[in-house]
Amino acid sequence: MNLDWPLMKNNILREDLDAVIELLRAQDPILTQSKNVREFEREWSDWLGVKHSVFVNSGSSANLITMAALREKFGPGEVIVPPLTWVSDIASVVQCGFKPVFVDIDRRTLGMDTDQVIAKLNSSTRAVFITHILGYNALTQKLIDELAKRNIPLIEDACESHGATFKGRRVGSFGLMSDFSFYYAHHLSTIEGGVCCTNDASLYEMLRMFRAHGMVREASTPDARQPFYDRHPDLNPDFIFAFPAYNVRSTEINAVLGRSQLERLDANNVIRTRNLNLFLENLDPKKYQTDFATEGSSNYAFTLILNHPDDALRDRAMQAMREHRVEFRRGTSGGGNQLRQPYLRKLLGDAECTKYPVVDHVHFYGFYLGNYPTLQADKILRLCEVLNAL
Ligand SMILES: Cc1ncc(COP(=O)(O)O)c(C=O)c1O
Repeated sequence: MNLDWPLMKNNILREDLDAVIELLRAQDPILTQSKNVREFEREWSDWLGVKHSVFVNSGSSANLITMAALREKFGPGEVIVPPLTWVSDIASVVQCGFKPVFVDIDRRTLGMDTDQVIAKLNSSTRAVFITHILGYNALTQKLIDELAKRNIPLIEDACESHGATFKGRRVGSFGLMSDFSFYYAHHLSTIEGGVCCTNDASLYEMLRMFRAHGMVREASTPDARQPFYDRHPDLNPDFIFAFPAYNVRSTEINAVLGRSQLERLDANNVIRTRNLNLFLENLDPKKYQTDFATEGSSNYAFTLILNHPDDALRDRAMQAMREHRVEFRRGTSGGGNQLRQPYLRKLLGDAECTKYPVVDHVHFYGFYLGNYPTLQADKILRLCEVLNAL
């Protein structure tokens, strides 16, 4: 049986492409970052419930300027991160001169375990950089309260979780800064793209500068620019580079795609949530994990995780999915335990990766599969039957 089930399908529709064509048809259209980028940022901020958004060329770039701004504002130190995340969450921490400190995950949310995070907090902690994995909320009230009490910034990576909520409020609106990705495989796609969000006015100005060479003229208000002009009368105000920064801008074309897609994001997420529930309700709970913390989840992927470390069942599941043309990724988000990757083994040695058993289980016995709005219910039921029979 060919289920023809890729990781993502029909994510960019004709109506999105038509919006781009309309832009291109205009007389001498501006294609570099301009009005559509500004409008997309405003619409995204409204949708998320934050004051400011900075549109960039990828979620990884959002991670990078977030960590760069954090370092600029708070100085060097430790950042607590999960081993189950995307490479750029840890690369950005390391590249910005922070020490990454790891804690294991909670098996029901796949996000960091709150008590283990709290146990690692100390006077050197500059931030807790959580990842909301594959649409599941990773926040707990206990974590939010403890960080507020100690005045330690919470940073959210919601690159995989557009529209997920915690206590009815969208994830990505809780942290001092938060990052989203608009890569093709995600809930909303600008082909490549990402955004960094904050309610903090001074961080917003810094993020805008970090996005574009560290240039002071990128700041949004005269008040943010003037101190640099006053301090550097020998410099042309057009070319004052405040920070050793990057160029991670996007374009009008990508912003037009984002604006068009945002109009149907919520409706798509309702279908995705229905799909995930159908999948989890029909999987055999004796063989596979079905007790994920789904409240407020918004998943563009299904999580398939074996209950027990059973190599034979894992291999049969992979073979069955290949046979039935169901695309999957082993290890779930980011390929599983980042500490097993060469770039972290070089930094931390070979033993570190074995200290996080919950992540290691997901690494060896977990998968993700596509969950897109046109995925039919009968395909979901057929796959569950196949998996349950293994
Ligand atoms: C959790 C997480 N963070 C960051 C990223 C990076 O986003 P991008 O692929 O847009 O660079 C991803 C990518 O998929 C991700 O899953």
